[in-house]
Amino acid sequence: MHAPWPERTAPLYGQDFASDPFSYYASLRSTFGPVAPVALEETGALRGYLVLDHAHQLEVLQDRGNIWTRDSRWYRDLVQGTLPPGHPMIPQFTYRRSRLYAEGARHSRLSAPGNHALAQLDMLRTRDLIEELADQLITAFFGDRGPQEWNEADILGQYALPLPLLVMMRLMGMDESSALATGHAIHEMLSGGPGARRAAAELDARMRELVTGKEHSPGPDLVSWMHHFNRELHSGLDTHELSEDVWLQIVAGRGAGTTWICNTVLELLTNPDLGADVIAGRCPMEEAMNRVMWVNAPIQNLIGRWATQDTTLGDYRVNCGDMAVICLGATGADPALHAAGHDIARVNRSHLAWGAGTHACPTHDLGSLIVRTGLEVLWNRLPGMRLAVPVEELTWDLPYIARTPTALPVVFPLPPTPPANGHSWTPPHSFLSNPPRPISTRPKERPSAPQGRLPRWRSLVAWWPRR
Ligand code: HEM
Repeated sequence: MHAPWPERTAPLYGQDFASDPFSYYASLRSTFGPVAPVALEETGALRGYLVLDHAHQLEVLQDRGNIWTRDSRWYRDLVQGTLPPGHPMIPQFTYRRSRLYAEGARHSRLSAPGNHALAQLDMLRTRDLIEELADQLITAFFGDRGPQEWNEADILGQYALPLPLLVMMRLMGMDESSALATGHAIHEMLSGGPGARRAAAELDARMRELVTGKEHSPGPDLVSWMHHFNRELHSGLDTHELSEDVWLQIVAGRGAGTTWICNTVLELLTNPDLGADVIAGRCPMEEAMNRVMWVNAPIQNLIGRWATQDTTLGDYRVNCGDMAVICLGATGADPALHAAGHDIARVNRSHLAWGAGTHACPTHDLGSLIVRTGLEVLWNRLPGMRLAVPVEELTWDLPYIARTPTALPVVFPLPPTPPANGHSWTPPHSFLSNPPRPISTRPKERPSAPQGRLPRWRSLVAWWPRR
């Protein structure tokens, strides 16, 4: 029998939520327990069950009973048209023909070429690439005037936003001009302005163009490796499905990477003991990053999972088609974990910030590498960095999915090693360990020699828009 929606629903919007989501989650927990019925906007039409504690989060994400799906076509309110059309959150979960919305054998088929391609990455060379891009971005902080006695930068707009995106676009094998156009389109799409729809369509077209181009002339890049494994594993992904996976990897790498960099910078600048430990080498950067996974997870809320049958969640009877929102921002404060002697100190990696179950992030190592390298280069180059405003004065975007400040202004003194040309110390490097060969009936060619030095993408770094 259809269970009525609970009488009491908490707002998951508004100033209290935006300014201090962690206290807000704590108050929801004390009012409702581990699962809270919430509305994500004023009309109450966009609603779901917010899952606050670790055990229930695992129950939904691991889904051992085959009850929960990531396929948003199950969302009853969406199917029945009761959601306000044009609501800005809807594009965040609109169904696409990608692994993100697929389950079972279809999910495995759509994921295989991308995951096998990611496994080909040579992490040492990828680190070189990240260092080089990070270095260029930091050099761009100084503009034409060069380093001054005191300097300022917005770590979000000038560093944390561009770095993961530049890395992902470079790994995908885009050339500088198409990366420039893609960067423009992503910026426009995310700005949510009148051009957002057109920009989203342009991005789809660019992904298709990239995938088609690499099919005919492969190179040492992830897209070419995806073609290779698509053939080798007989996965049978068509151009559209491959383009969707390229797009998903770029978007997923960019979003979480940006927020993780920002949140760790903020943690290091506002937690003096931790900051001092990192500078003195008593705490590796990775441990500081791990702490952030617990106390300020890059992805705060996973939207979402949908029930494929009537079920229960916590104390609630849930109907087929209801939505669960997994609140990773609340996991670290789960009282059950603390009562069990759980310590969120640096070494505990049982957080769910990478997700869990079949849809968990397929590439922890690349995600961690981008963020760790970005932070290490930043700390090496600008050791005297500090916040330009009191932390209480930072303003925040609504933390529906990720929690980022609208800007992260910092000041820093003259760097100890002025970046004379910004990249002279980065060694030449090739990209992936072994480029794939296009399918051929001819005898197998030898792998091509390591590629030459990467283009520096200077104009792309110089263009990057400040928010
Ligand atoms: C930088 C830190 C990163 C974090 C914290 C992170 C976190 C996550 C999380 C929580 C999910 C689960 C989504 C869900 O269950 O609904 C996810 C999925 C995913 N991530 Fe990451 N991610 C990161 C970096 C990356 C990078 C660099 C890539 C690109 C190669 C990537 C590609 C993906 C993909 C393709 C999925 C979808 C998996 C599926 O549905 O099967 N992520 N990520």
